[in-house]
Amino acid sequence: MPFTANRYFKDHPRVLVAAEGMYYTRDDGERILDAVSGLWCVNAGHGRAAIAEAIAAQAKTLDYSPAFQAGHPRAFELAERLAAMLPGDLDHLFFTNSGSESVETALKIALAYHQRRGEASRRILVGRERGYHGVNFGGLSVGGIPGHKADLGPLLPEMDLLPHTHDPDHNAFSKGEPEWGGHLADALEEMVTKHGSQTIAAVIVEPVAGSTGVLVPPQGYLQRLREICDIHGILLIFDEVITGFGRLGAAFACDHFGVVPDMVTLAKGLTNGAAPMGAVAVRGGIYQTFMDSAGSDTAIELAHGYTYSGHPLSCAAALAAQDIYRDEGLFARAAEIAPYWEQAVHSLKGLPHVMDIRNMGLMAGIELEPMADRPAARAFEIYLRAFEEGLLIRTTGDIIALSPPLIVERQEIDRMMELLTSLLKQAA
Ligand SMILES: Cc1ncc(COP(=O)(O)O)c(C=O)c1O
Repeated sequence: MPFTANRYFKDHPRVLVAAEGMYYTRDDGERILDAVSGLWCVNAGHGRAAIAEAIAAQAKTLDYSPAFQAGHPRAFELAERLAAMLPGDLDHLFFTNSGSESVETALKIALAYHQRRGEASRRILVGRERGYHGVNFGGLSVGGIPGHKADLGPLLPEMDLLPHTHDPDHNAFSKGEPEWGGHLADALEEMVTKHGSQTIAAVIVEPVAGSTGVLVPPQGYLQRLREICDIHGILLIFDEVITGFGRLGAAFACDHFGVVPDMVTLAKGLTNGAAPMGAVAVRGGIYQTFMDSAGSDTAIELAHGYTYSGHPLSCAAALAAQDIYRDEGLFARAAEIAPYWEQAVHSLKGLPHVMDIRNMGLMAGIELEPMADRPAARAFEIYLRAFEEGLLIRTTGDIIALSPPLIVERQEIDRMMELLTSLLKQAA
């Protein structure tokens, strides 16, 4: 099982058999309130009939279409739909099957783009400490979680990491963007000096780092990264696998922060989690560079792709999910309920073991003091207890991460906080 304590699971299985709305059903028939949208992906809530019907209808009409050298209408429709939703000239899409594949695709496009326009010296890919960009080799290389790389030996050699932005001495218990830390983006300037001009190909960051515990960018930080990238001809990639599709109360984090990156990686909420799918959005100029530099008009412009790129069933699921987001105004709904969410999660301040709470949109991280000699054990205990008591949370290290479906009601937020309060009070 992926990212799972397999031996422990065998002895203590946790099995989900159904889901609807805000709730899962366990194999013992009990319901569990979903405080993490499954795994940050079921943004419109579970069991959406329109998505299930769209998948079924698509399976009956066109089950599979070869992804290479042929197309099908739903893929183009979805690309157009996403291009219209994304800001600026982020108007071309490449489909993948996961967040990890989206990241690999974006990194490859970045390197190839510079080659194609005659700046082959731009080889360095820059990530950030505590960044998570999935589990494939490129994403791991620019990822900032040492434990994920520990057993693997050298990964991509030409990479570097910016410092992460979370410093509890300055920004513990911040509501929204911390005031302190915008200057940390200047580390990119220092990197340019260190490595030399025209050596850095791209910088990839999660606008809000999700998997390492909801690290919210300091005020001005992302805007400053954009400026530095512009000055030095570096591509800026936002990994919006988590923040995409309403998590921050806007369609994308780039809308929320008013920053247009050169590429955006997407997955998860794209299909409401109902079918595996990812996408990379690129600015028109990047797309055009590939078109203009490929030689003869039958040459393949980008030697990259997956058998299931733009799979018809995933496209059907994604289009149906986008209809729901639009028709129910779910991104605006997330923005509307975000202040209530903020005050609710910050009400946990002062409970035993709580060292920090941070939030943005419908995301929150609650950082606990680790047990002596047993890092991550306290949060995992709470995860297990919560599962028993009827609440699904996610933990990473000693941080509880929350990201409920955007349909969450106030009384469900209250229930989440009630349960967490009682679990924190009982925690060892
Ligand atoms: C920011 C980010 N990028 C990439 C990924 C990897 O996505 P996947 O698990 O679909 O490969 C994740 C998954 O959580 C993520 O949060």
